[in-house]
Amino acid sequence: MIARARAALRRRPAVEGAPGTSAAPSGASDRPTAGTGCAVRLEDVHVRLGERDVLRGIDLELRERRVGIVGANGSGKSTLARLLNGLVVPTSGRVLVDGLDTRRDGAAVRRLVGFVFTDPDAQIVMPTVAEDVAYSLRRLPAAERDALVRAALAARGLADHADHPAHLLSGGQKQLLALTSVLAAGPRLVVADEPTTLLDLRNTRRFAAELAGLPQQVVLVSHDLSLLGAMDRVLVVDGGRVVADDAPGPAVEHYRRLVDEAP
Ligand SMILES: Nc1ncnc2c1ncn2[C@@H]1O[C@H](COP(=O)(O)OP(=O)(O)OP(=O)(O)O)[C@@H](O)[C@H]1O
Ligand SMILES: [Mg+2]
Repeated sequence: MIARARAALRRRPAVEGAPGTSAAPSGASDRPTAGTGCAVRLEDVHVRLGERDVLRGIDLELRERRVGIVGANGSGKSTLARLLNGLVVPTSGRVLVDGLDTRRDGAAVRRLVGFVFTDPDAQIVMPTVAEDVAYSLRRLPAAERDALVRAALAARGLADHADHPAHLLSGGQKQLLALTSVLAAGPRLVVADEPTTLLDLRNTRRFAAELAGLPQQVVLVSHDLSLLGAMDRVLVVDGGRVVADDAPGPAVEHYRRLVDEAP
């Protein structure tokens, strides 16, 4: 197995709980573990990677159902997103998800926070479509797991592909599979880092509709201004700082001004 797949296996949590009480998908929707989201707090967070101060002095509390993040390439968006599930831990300051410190309680945080990467190949870890979803449900008994896998795939139009090699799916189907596998683990918050960048317009719309319909809290990093328009709150990141934090209209306007004023 290649190193990247091994790393993806390590960071893919499994659904917890006894049969019948799991947070696994049921029928046409994926059921969050409990409640409607997480209380996420970033307290004076700094991230230094190598020689670079990537994030500086971030104080945030995220409670809205839909939070967007936008900003220039290299401004720190992905680093900020990765802080939320402990893929990156602060150099100083702390990140709390429902009171759990991402530095101390990384595994528990990753059960609460699912992460969708730009490139679905980075997180599809099993050979077939059904096996990939089943991996998130690996702690459940086989019979229950199989029924949940089939229901989850049917909900995303992937039922006919269940036994196909995952790498043969189209880009849009792979992204939907990645989302299905992430949701199968029952997260309460879904963080998606530019999940539509590799998709055509039709699949972008389809994926956006999927995200919009999720009961979970969503944090979406995107350069797609139309997707950001559907958020409750948008953060603009520039030079490692949050320079605007507002409703989508004024936040995107701030971002446009930054681009216009850039040398
Ligand atoms: N492991 C690392 N070591 C050193 N520098 C890093 C590391 N990871 C990221 N950086 C730097 O941190 C900065 C922010 O990176 P990040 O990936 O968060 O940006 P981004 O806003 O997501 O950019 P993009 O829009 O291109 O995806 C960049 O200058 C990047 O080179
Ligand atoms: Mg990025």
